[in-house]
Amino acid sequence: MKSDIKDAGLAKQGSQRVEFAYQEMPVLRLLEERFSTDKPLKNLRLGACLHVTSETANLMRILKAGGAELALCASNPLSTQDDVAAWLVKELKVPTFAIKGEDSNTYYQHLNSVLDIKPNLTMDDGADLVSEIHSRRRNLIGDIIGGSEETTTGVIRLRSLERQGVLAYPIIAVNDADTKHLFDNRYGTGQSTIDGLLRATNLLLAGRKVVVCGYGMCGRGVAMRARGMGARVIICEVEPLCALEAVMEGYEVLPLMEAAKIGDVFITVTGDKHVLRSEHFQVMKNGAMLANSGHFDVEIDLPALAEMAKERKVARPFCEEFQMADGRSIFVLAEGRLLNLAAAEGHPANVMDMSFANQALCAAWVASHGQTLERKVYPVPKDIDREIASLKLHSMGITIDSLTPEQEKYLSSWEAGT
Ligand code: ADE
Repeated sequence: MKSDIKDAGLAKQGSQRVEFAYQEMPVLRLLEERFSTDKPLKNLRLGACLHVTSETANLMRILKAGGAELALCASNPLSTQDDVAAWLVKELKVPTFAIKGEDSNTYYQHLNSVLDIKPNLTMDDGADLVSEIHSRRRNLIGDIIGGSEETTTGVIRLRSLERQGVLAYPIIAVNDADTKHLFDNRYGTGQSTIDGLLRATNLLLAGRKVVVCGYGMCGRGVAMRARGMGARVIICEVEPLCALEAVMEGYEVLPLMEAAKIGDVFITVTGDKHVLRSEHFQVMKNGAMLANSGHFDVEIDLPALAEMAKERKVARPFCEEFQMADGRSIFVLAEGRLLNLAAAEGHPANVMDMSFANQALCAAWVASHGQTLERKVYPVPKDIDREIASLKLHSMGITIDSLTPEQEKYLSSWEAGT
């Protein structure tokens, strides 16, 4: 079996981590039973490009139970847990191509090793598999039934392909399911970003000015958790509606140029490029810390910062100091890559449980419906989303009410008024 990982000897350590996470993933455990019996992915090859973490390992376990032949590579050069990659290869026997800290060349070689299995289904986190298939591996398109996408940035790329009329096969936007983005993006990114910030710096957040760039679901989570630690949170936005929501949540909302002068910590979660750039670096305080939890490492203009710096040095693991000619220092965490996955362990298993239940059920749905679908970006079917919410509540021992027949009738009628 072909693979490329750091050290197969780490499999035992990986096993402990994967099993520990699985205890926190009750919905996936339930799906494992269902997939083992029904085999919805039988005779299908599935190529996945995801963060190689203990949570992803458990998703691979379900997909394998469902009968899929798998190959997995990393969706970010810094997010791989090498011991988990070893478990995937040695124990689960899934060809895995991922090494924490791999360079860009290796990253793309790994992507192509996954594509070499000639997948019938693709599963992406950031749309790099899709992008490679649409540019350099078009000969694979004929074998592909459909795919799924995990994250906001990936869905944006897919919608661009769809708008240009060149999307070559149907893809489900898993990110947009309610049981994904309302939980994973908000509580997952919120908690794990603060976790990454603390592991990389051990900073006291109480009383600090934390500037959150972007008030989408991820930004909301980061802002909420930073405030919970006593930080004075400032939001920077470009969308009036999001800015208004932030104001009414009680946050200070400022243009970034103003926030840049007073912030202690800056966290980008916008999905866009060069959010923090030279005009901001020029006015930042000595000791300012810059981090990103958006998918790609483009949100902080690092080449511009490097250009302005007279010297650079590693201050701590995942924390680099840029010394400016005027004597100020600006610190960059995790090379401007996803802070929560590079310096911490990504979202907790309990929230990935719902995201990956969506992935597993959507893979099965595409396998059975794919031939009837058009070359479009599809939402997650509503019944899948609702089922996951119900299963999650059930796993938490929470029961809820249901409508009486009288209430059902009232809601479906129009006659009764004032
Ligand atoms: N994305 C964010 N957190 C993650 C995790 N723990 N595993 C896989 N993908 C993730």
